[in-house]
Amino acid sequence: MDKNYYITTPIYYPSAKPHMGHAYSSIIADFFARFKRMDGYEVHFLTGTDEHGLKIQRAAEKEKIDTLKFCNEISQTFRDLSKTLNLSNTDFIRTTEDRHKKTVQHLWTQLEKNDDIYLSKYSGWYSVSDEAFYNEDEIIENNGTKKATVSGSTVEWIEEESYFFRLSKWQDNLLKYYEENPDFISPKSRKNEVISFVKSGLKDLSISRKSFSWGIKVPNNPDHVIYVWLDALTNYISALNYPNINEKLYKKFWPASVHLIGKDILRFHAVYWPAFLMAAKIPLPHKVYGHGWILSGDEKMSKSKGNILDPLDIIETYGVDPLRYYLIKEVSFGNDGNISKGRLEDCINSDLANNYGNLCQRVTAFAEKNCSSKIPKINKFSNDDLKMLNNFTNNLSTIRNQIDNQNINFYINFIVSALFEANKYFNDQEPWKKKDDQDRLNTIVYTSLEMIRKISFMLYPIIPNSIKKALTIFNIKTEDIDFESIASHDLLKTGNDINKIDILFKKIEKND
Ligand code: MSP
Repeated sequence: MDKNYYITTPIYYPSAKPHMGHAYSSIIADFFARFKRMDGYEVHFLTGTDEHGLKIQRAAEKEKIDTLKFCNEISQTFRDLSKTLNLSNTDFIRTTEDRHKKTVQHLWTQLEKNDDIYLSKYSGWYSVSDEAFYNEDEIIENNGTKKATVSGSTVEWIEEESYFFRLSKWQDNLLKYYEENPDFISPKSRKNEVISFVKSGLKDLSISRKSFSWGIKVPNNPDHVIYVWLDALTNYISALNYPNINEKLYKKFWPASVHLIGKDILRFHAVYWPAFLMAAKIPLPHKVYGHGWILSGDEKMSKSKGNILDPLDIIETYGVDPLRYYLIKEVSFGNDGNISKGRLEDCINSDLANNYGNLCQRVTAFAEKNCSSKIPKINKFSNDDLKMLNNFTNNLSTIRNQIDNQNINFYINFIVSALFEANKYFNDQEPWKKKDDQDRLNTIVYTSLEMIRKISFMLYPIIPNSIKKALTIFNIKTEDIDFESIASHDLLKTGNDINKIDILFKKIEKND
């Protein structure tokens, strides 16, 4: 079986600097990428910036900066954020790059050849903020302004010559595809809204604009630029050098394992993108997963609402791993989640400092004194030892399956309860009272160290920097983490050194 895995984040609009919602998509994608890598997969992990369209052109005009220069600057802040978030992405694509433009124009030509494109006139509502067309029944009027119901963003009326994609032609094929591939749209809770949108009747889609110039030119008609979503979605294959389908990247990684996106852009990914691909005779991605939003109060956090939490501020105060852990644990994956500094601090204090950090410190300090800082010899595991250790062995394939279903909640709960068990075990076994039974003391320490190792391996995709430090206890390098080995209880070699480590997470003083 090929062990290749291709995961993508949405490509972000560089109309303003990144905020927590963007950081969230990227951190979750990084979690999956790291998990799969430690499970022996070759992973391609793509992120980037979506730089064309009227939204970006207007943002640059407002700042009175040349549009490409404007994009260069803000795209760089997204690239920098990827480093700060410690993302393990293998590529970063910008839609203003030549490699991307070529692919988009090629795809256009394919669609045209297959008679899926025709020239006509568009008249209808358009939201520049969403870069989306809306039907009359998707608009509400508020204080004299027309807005898209779904996003609340202002719409404007446009009438212009436009190329159309024959989306209506693909309606039945799409419905058939959803039926035959029940996991294509995930989570399940979001599937119905897409299916009913498609069933309600798909209209042909306007895919070019004539009234502005910031975009990729339509081949053979430079008066038109290609609709920004057709342009943007193509990044997933331009980064694999499509149309060079015999080259390594495309061969290995297409179709993508999962496009991870926010729920607001599900229609583009679950309707338009598969229809474009079908029309161009390109295989479809395995899955599109629409996650929930990071809220601020009851509202989606977004620049236009002015309720932004800057990930860089949080990282500066608390560090990147606490933020990663917090977002992965506290925002129930698939649903919306509200975040607050108070809850982040609780998470750092209880889970990271007390439950994990303290377990590492306590067990290693005890081993230093009582086992000469060496991995002790196991005499014979007791039932208590085995019950706890075997929980990993018995759940190995369940964990893998849950990850393939993007069930991060299962994964994190498994870790939290393993931590609870390991701490309880060390307390209940009272190795400090076993100084006259060195064999049992050694076995308790060995079992506890193995638990630390297994839990650390599982925590690696969530808090990679901290785990790198923690694993110096055993001289294990993060590159050598092998998920399969959480099933075994004898990876630590008797006689090897146990190294002391600095405190992993400092507790936060709370005033309340
Ligand atoms: N450029 C398009 C995506 C093109 S993908 C081919 C776009 N960009 S965006 O910058 O507006 O949003 C990028 C991603 O960030 C989307 O998945 C969106 O859902 C996500 N988020 C933006 N705000 C968010 C929150 N407050 N919470 C969680 N994610 C949200 O759409």
